[in-house]
Amino acid sequence: EKDGHDWFMRKEIFEQPRAVADSLLGRRTPEGHLQLDEMRLSDQELRDVDKVIIIACGTSFYAGMVAKYAIEHWCRVPVEVELASEFRYRDPILDYSTLVVAISQSGETADTLQAIRHARTQRSKVLAICNTNGSTIPRESDAVIYTHAGPEIGVASTKGFLTQLVACYLLALYLAQVKGTRYGDEIGQVVEQLEAMPSHIERVLADQEAIYALAREHVGTRSVLFLGRHAGYPVALEGALKLKELAYIHAEGFAAGELKHGPIALIEEGLPVFCVVPPAGRDQLRDKMVSGIQEVRARGARTICLVEDGDDAITPYADVVIRLPQVPVLLQPLVAAVPLQLFACELATALGHDVDQPRNLAKSVTVE
Ligand code: F6R
Repeated sequence: EKDGHDWFMRKEIFEQPRAVADSLLGRRTPEGHLQLDEMRLSDQELRDVDKVIIIACGTSFYAGMVAKYAIEHWCRVPVEVELASEFRYRDPILDYSTLVVAISQSGETADTLQAIRHARTQRSKVLAICNTNGSTIPRESDAVIYTHAGPEIGVASTKGFLTQLVACYLLALYLAQVKGTRYGDEIGQVVEQLEAMPSHIERVLADQEAIYALAREHVGTRSVLFLGRHAGYPVALEGALKLKELAYIHAEGFAAGELKHGPIALIEEGLPVFCVVPPAGRDQLRDKMVSGIQEVRARGARTICLVEDGDDAITPYADVVIRLPQVPVLLQPLVAAVPLQLFACELATALGHDVDQPRNLAKSVTVE
């Protein structure tokens, strides 16, 4: 049942190319238009949307953070991303022109469910991004985009996360198509880039042994930091979450630009710092990241840099280089998250932990 893997989680990490491909299937009409099967909102309703609020928890929340960058970029609609558990209690400003997007792999998370119930009392439209057919959250939503990850057994979300990212990109592109904020050929080009992702993810997975060796070197490490910018920032947060929940070690993700506002005080000799480097095409972002890497390294950090192929500007400041395929910055989370999943899975294994059933955690959290 685990296909020869020791853990469901590891099996699910390796299923990601297929899960991403399946989540893209059937989304294009023969004329090249995007179609979303259970988008029960009319074009007019979507054109009326003047604000998007994304609500989710944990890993799904990080997918939502990536969605914010994508929707704002392609659709020019303001997006807020909020933890479901905080949403209701701040009396959010909602009305009929607000689209609330609930992201939940299980479709049963109580915090997220209560948040959408609240949104609907305010007449907002609710769209669910969900991996579980017929679960409560999509049943109580106006529209659904199902991800096609297949059942996720490991408590830590992996293929659930990557397919949520795909659904978020599709939603952003669909909104752009309906609102006319992007031309069809540009949308088609991004869809083609998405369709190339499964083979890029395969490439990252093929480097598994190097990541595993790196993970085993970190048995005994008490703390790990993760830095990212732009769409790499949620990846940093996700990398830290995976490590906390599986390896039970202290891990924190930061927006790299925030370092100098405090967290840099944490840097000490030998502290491992993962750095998700933006693609070179985005030079301003990339250059800022490079200087952040130099700063932490000058203070003794051991820098582990996720860098795209061909970008050698970082190499002098990287103690370890993990190569990523060349992809656009908005899509980079689909490849950059994968080495961090492999790292957490292997480190937890080396520490003798139960990777599929981490202590104190449940697969779906049905209490608020
Ligand atoms: C982390 C993880 C959790 C879930 C969160 C939301 O690996 O799995 O953080 O992402 O509990 O769950 P769903 O997406 O089912 O609402």
